[in-house]
Amino acid sequence: MSETARIILNGQEYELPVIEGSEGEKAIDISKLRGMTGYITLDSGFKNTGSTKSAITFLDGEKGILRYRGYPIEQLAEKASFLEVAYLLMYGELPNADQLSYFTDSITHHTLVHEDMRRFFEAFPTDAHPMGILSSMISSLSTFYPESQNPNRPFKDIELTIHRLIAKLPTLAAQAYKNNLGHPLTYPDNKLSYTENFLNMMFGLPSNDYTIDPIVNDALNKLLILHADHEQNCSASTVRIVGSSQANLYSSISAGIAALWGPLHGGANQAVIEMLETIREDGSGLQTWVDKAKDKTDSFRLMGFGHRVYKNFDPRAKIIKKAADDVLAALGVNDPVLDIAKELEEVALKDEYFVARGLYPNVDFYSGIIYRALGIPTEMFTVMFAIGRLPGWIAQWKEMIENGDPIGRPRQIYTGANARDYVPVENR
Ligand code: SDX
Repeated sequence: MSETARIILNGQEYELPVIEGSEGEKAIDISKLRGMTGYITLDSGFKNTGSTKSAITFLDGEKGILRYRGYPIEQLAEKASFLEVAYLLMYGELPNADQLSYFTDSITHHTLVHEDMRRFFEAFPTDAHPMGILSSMISSLSTFYPESQNPNRPFKDIELTIHRLIAKLPTLAAQAYKNNLGHPLTYPDNKLSYTENFLNMMFGLPSNDYTIDPIVNDALNKLLILHADHEQNCSASTVRIVGSSQANLYSSISAGIAALWGPLHGGANQAVIEMLETIREDGSGLQTWVDKAKDKTDSFRLMGFGHRVYKNFDPRAKIIKKAADDVLAALGVNDPVLDIAKELEEVALKDEYFVARGLYPNVDFYSGIIYRALGIPTEMFTVMFAIGRLPGWIAQWKEMIENGDPIGRPRQIYTGANARDYVPVENR
């Protein structure tokens, strides 16, 4: 006998179905609630509300579990390549050798962007934030491929758009960085792997013999995998709701980039480093800052701490923290900010305020420290998050289309003025 939920409204009892997911998660299906009762539900920030059913990523916030299509993140981060994980997220299974070869080859040969796009870079201020550039550039790709705007294209044709996005995002990101520096562009090199190619476009110069450090390349591969998807987070939900209007995939991803930019979301990795540097320069000691974060009259929050879902630990933060130690040791980098980060974690995790609220380091707390060690500039940290998250966003968009999800249109409870008549300006 399947489980149901009963509610009593104005003395009348209603029964709602309960659904259960493959990992035992349960939800009350309220899709017919308004028709049955005239009531809707209210859940600001969707803290208790599921927006969809999904088979892509499973996470358990209490147990610190994160799996992509059933594979534990710990195994994928250690053993897989980023393109393998991208394929897994978007197509549901790890690719066999032929599938991986085709996927890799297709992406490798779509890394160039139309030369006309270079004019866009010239129009941006030289100190333009790369996330603003990236969101604009990705959206403008839809104008270079107008056929991608047809929502009814057979899915195999949309696959080309998917490959173009995975291929071109790193190119556009590196070009935004070079544009910011006023350096000449380094074009994609088809002989290099996905991550090697990105590093070469970022740091290679016509005049220098930039060599790719395998330690840096391996760390980048791991970081991209750790950021690849995270179920219905803010930016993934943005991609889904934009795509649900049948806007094209480029526009949906552009919106996801914009949502990720916020310091409460992906922008936190930049905000963490800026916070740690402020704490270091301020010199008043960590406890001062921990106390500020606890003070409700102070808007300061410990960036990189807390999470909507993880209330014990973020499994990605654990992996990145260890990788930070390994990479800095291997590169011989001594970053005082890492020491401050570790001290801050220790101080905060002994503090009842943080423990009581389940506020632990999240994925963004240590990632900036590795990015610094890899030579990535602070303003590019959230761009790195976007490159990692792109296959997850695409997988979420693809699942939404394949499941035939309806256009997203939440309801509201109106709290404004009741009906009233217009008053001419002379009488106001
Ligand atoms: C990401 O959703 C995802 O999956 C996101 C992500 C992904 O992979 O896509 O994991 C990536 O966005 C990670 C989060 C990065 N953001 C930050 O590090 C910014 C700092 N953290 C917070 O702003 C906050 O913790 C959030 C936004 C992450 C979560 O906010 P919630 O779930 O809305 O929780 P809340 O704001 O209701 O906080 C609950 C309590 C409040 O105190 P009380 O009202 O109960 O007294 O905890 C407090 C908050 O004031 N709190 C913090 C805090 N975070 C929450 N207090 C101090 N410092 C913090 N960082």
